Amino acid sequence: MVHQTALIASAAILGSAIASPVIDLQRPLNDLNKRANPRVTPPFIGGWSSSGGVNRRQDGDVCTTDSCKKFADSVIAGRAKNYTEVDPCTDFATYTCAGWWESHDFRPDQSNIGVLSIMADVNNALMRTILESPYPDNTTINSTYAVGNAKELDKQNFAKMIAAYDSCMDTEAIDAVGPEPLQEILSAYEKLQNSTTSGNATDLTDKLIWVQRYGASGIVGATTWADDKTPDVTTVAIGPGLLGLDAKEYYTDKEATANYTTAIVGMYDKLYGEQDHEKHVSLANDIVKFEQALSAATPDAADAASVEYYYNPKPIAEADALLPEISFTRLIKAFAPSNYTIGNVLVLAPEFFPKVSGILSNTTSQTVDGYLKWTLIQNWATRLSNEVSAPYRRLQNELAGKDPEAVGERWRTCLTDVDSNLAWIESAFFVREAFSPEAKTYGERIITDIENVFQEKLKGYEWMSSEVKTKAIQKVLNMVEKIGYPDISPNVQDPKALADLYAPVNVTSDSWFKNGLAYNNFTLTNTWNDLLHPTDKNRWYMSAPTVNAYFNPPTNEIAFPAGIMQQPLFNLDLPEFVSYGAFGAVAGHELTHAFDSSGSHYDETGAYNDWWDNSTLAAFNNKTQCFVDQYSKFSITTPAGEQLNVNGQLTLGENIADGGGLGAAFAAWKKRNEEKADQSLPGLEEYTLEQLFYLAFGGVWCGERRPAEAVRRIYSDPHSPPNFRIIGTVANQRGFKEAFNCPSKEPTCELW
Ligand SMILES: *[C@@H]1O[C@H](CO)[C@@H](O)[C@H](O)[C@H]1NC(C)=O
Ligand SMILES: *[C@@H]1O[C@H](CO)[C@@H](O)[C@H](O)[C@H]1NC(C)=O
Ligand SMILES: *[C@@H]1O[C@H](CO)[C@@H](O)[C@H](O)[C@H]1NC(C)=O
Ligand SMILES: *[C@@H]1O[C@H](CO)[C@@H](O)[C@H](O)[C@H]1NC(C)=O
Ligand SMILES: *[C@@H]1O[C@H](CO)[C@@H](O)[C@H](O)[C@H]1NC(C)=O
Ligand SMILES: *[C@@H]1O[C@H](CO)[C@@H](O)[C@H](O)[C@H]1NC(C)=O
Ligand SMILES: *[C@@H]1O[C@H](CO)[C@@H](O)[C@H](O)[C@H]1NC(C)=O
Ligand SMILES: *[C@@H]1O[C@H](CO)[C@@H](O)[C@H](O)[C@H]1NC(C)=O
Ligand SMILES: *[C@@H]1O[C@H](CO)[C@@H](O)[C@H](O)[C@H]1NC(C)=O
Ligand SMILES: *[C@@H]1O[C@H](CO)[C@@H](O)[C@H](O)[C@H]1NC(C)=O
Ligand SMILES: *[C@@H]1O[C@H](CO)[C@@H](O)[C@H](O)[C@H]1NC(C)=O
Ligand SMILES: *[C@@H]1O[C@H](CO)[C@@H](O)[C@H](O)[C@H]1NC(C)=O
Ligand SMILES: [Zn+2]
Repeated sequence: MVHQTALIASAAILGSAIASPVIDLQRPLNDLNKRANPRVTPPFIGGWSSSGGVNRRQDGDVCTTDSCKKFADSVIAGRAKNYTEVDPCTDFATYTCAGWWESHDFRPDQSNIGVLSIMADVNNALMRTILESPYPDNTTINSTYAVGNAKELDKQNFAKMIAAYDSCMDTEAIDAVGPEPLQEILSAYEKLQNSTTSGNATDLTDKLIWVQRYGASGIVGATTWADDKTPDVTTVAIGPGLLGLDAKEYYTDKEATANYTTAIVGMYDKLYGEQDHEKHVSLANDIVKFEQALSAATPDAADAASVEYYYNPKPIAEADALLPEISFTRLIKAFAPSNYTIGNVLVLAPEFFPKVSGILSNTTSQTVDGYLKWTLIQNWATRLSNEVSAPYRRLQNELAGKDPEAVGERWRTCLTDVDSNLAWIESAFFVREAFSPEAKTYGERIITDIENVFQEKLKGYEWMSSEVKTKAIQKVLNMVEKIGYPDISPNVQDPKALADLYAPVNVTSDSWFKNGLAYNNFTLTNTWNDLLHPTDKNRWYMSAPTVNAYFNPPTNEIAFPAGIMQQPLFNLDLPEFVSYGAFGAVAGHELTHAFDSSGSHYDETGAYNDWWDNSTLAAFNNKTQCFVDQYSKFSITTPAGEQLNVNGQLTLGENIADGGGLGAAFAAWKKRNEEKADQSLPGLEEYTLEQLFYLAFGGVWCGERRPAEAVRRIYSDPHSPPNFRIIGTVANQRGFKEAFNCPSKEPTCELW
């Protein structure tokens, strides 16, 4: 999903949960004011002081409620033990997070932990309780679902969700069927290989249609897409199919391709028997060579995500001419509603297709068939028993740096499955328990404050022409804010809407695999039926329990699921610097995406339209280059102990969003704080409120990755590693540098 730009990389979805389109394109000091208790010695040479911050707090005005104590304790526990010796100006990540790093460890199934993943754990634990309890008849929250006929439908929706979960938890049944459900799909594919359609021999297009029907996509794929230039219209997009390894870099890495080859052989052995092991080895080598050639032909990750690169509308005949071996016309007709007329299609990777011709001419049909079957295997293996899917899981574990044999707790897999496939029923039951109207109102206030500040800031930029400024301000005014959960498409509070939505999905408690096929059909139908109606602007792209947020350029919207509006990011019971510094920076981040290197291509209506004049654009590009250079200097340590630099170009949009988001959140909080000053927190009286604001921000990004996972993310994740989301972002804040009295107050890079 290229359009949505998220706060963090979305959690990997289950291989067979086809929730996203098939195309692989994929965001101590004492208080100076306390005269009775003068400052202690500066914490280190060249020290800093709180003198930069305005602090209107009264002596002794400290919040001592349980919520405040708890939050303050967590800040203290997360902070470096030796924080007085750590320079916040150069390493605010260590300053804020070293205690957190020391006190948290990975579960065997985790490769990435952090404050946000702990929030997700809390949401998941609540959802698990809901999934493993009877229908919650006693819910106390006032809404329409608990009455009359709606209640019957609500119970039915609940039962459907429980059946979906139970089918997944029933590992006895899953073990008992073994490899069979996938073997059936593979043998149906083999029948197709030798058959004819209306007198014509099966060709590559027939095969691609066949695998795409099963949610896989090989070589090329087609999906639907809000047309960037006319975003109210959904159009067809064609692009490279999915490759088994996440990043181009892996295809030129001997160890990664060796592990990949082993996984292919292992899965073929499981599905076809070890007696053909030698044949499988030879086939796997050919498949990997084929994928290496395809991978070399694909655009790099930064290009693939750039609308300037991917927006190439072409008449279908021209698209077909790019790759004569495959008929895009037939591929699209196989999925589009029968009365849909194919107009232009978006060719997402124009240079890729002609190269595929050459690669295909060099590849035997045996290899192509082996590869297409492998795409089916990857898509469906995770719905088989742990025993059968072991070689594929081992590969994923290796790439993420886990113990190769690690298996997550079953309920987590099953919850993810429900979240991916019955997202809106799940959301309905989540928000009843975990999201109050007061939370929604407070969230709205924070977001509105930030939008107002952002507009104010726009007015002040001398490098922008007045025409561009006017449009930019209009873009903020037009911004649609989605908070908590969908209330229109669908209305998750309306049991009938949910029952109707999921009516086409038959869920059974006795076959997890069959349910997967039903979800797959449902997703395919919905994806292609989008061609029949204007772009649905009320749709959400994340479920309510999700700990994440996004900006979607063609709809000019920012969305914040209930899942992220929770402690410790968001809390009505704490001083406001907490929710503004943490959740507010998230809200500002998403808003800033509308003006980052990618979002800035979309105008105030959400259309891709170059609305920047040359001189404003030149100034913009000069400022963005600063971010590229700044972040390109950051590096992580690979498992081999080498340094691997952050890709400043790939992460540019996110880094701009981090900088602008924190700046806007700080300004918004300052205004509130001037009206009514926050209290301080117990045990943290040594800090100014400004410093506490930044500690709340830094605390969001305390986290760790296994070294192999860190490498994987450098290759494929548009977000910088969490440490640099702290260090790089605060380096770009004048407010931070003043609050901590850093030697230079000048931001390293500044755009918004
Ligand atoms: C502070 O402690 C951390 C370990 O938590 C250590 O890595 C770091 O070097 C120490 N810093 C200083 C300046 O002593
Ligand atoms: C509602 O019922 C469930 C189980 O039936 C129970 O665990 C929960 O505590 C009850 N909640 C309230 C608010 O009574
Ligand atoms: C429930 O919500 C409705 C509509 O918002 C309101 O009229 C009613 O008074 C509420 N009932 C309770 C018990 O809060
Ligand atoms: C398909 O044809 C190949 C030869 O081209 C043959 O080896 C294979 O057995 C056939 N498979 C089926 C299922 O008919
Ligand atoms: C069969 O091939 C002919 C000639 O290439 C073509 O016109 C026709 O559309 C094909 N039929 C199908 C069902 O693909
Ligand atoms: C390949 O697998 C080995 C053995 O499990 C593991 O140590 C290594 O890190 C893996 N390499 C990659 C690039 O995945
Ligand atoms: C196409 O068919 C669908 C459902 O059959 C219908 O809702 C839609 O209005 C039709 N569209 C056109 C353009 O005829
Ligand atoms: C075909 O394969 C040969 C030998 O492996 C290679 O040198 C050549 O570049 C390939 N051609 C294409 C178009 O991939
Ligand atoms: C769902 O199940 C019902 C009853 O068994 C059946 O009539 C219907 O065709 C099924 N729908 C789908 C999409 O499989
Ligand atoms: C999925 O759709 C196909 C037709 O496209 C149908 O044959 C199959 O029964 C459906 N499967 C399920 C589980 O709904
Ligand atoms: C703006 O830049 C473009 C591309 O560099 C150029 O073609 C165009 O003439 C410039 N427009 C103005 C008004 O200078
Ligand atoms: C940006 O502009 C400044 C001032 O004109 C100049 O010194 C700097 O080199 C420019 N940077 C880039 C990357 O163009
Ligand atoms: Zn983002």
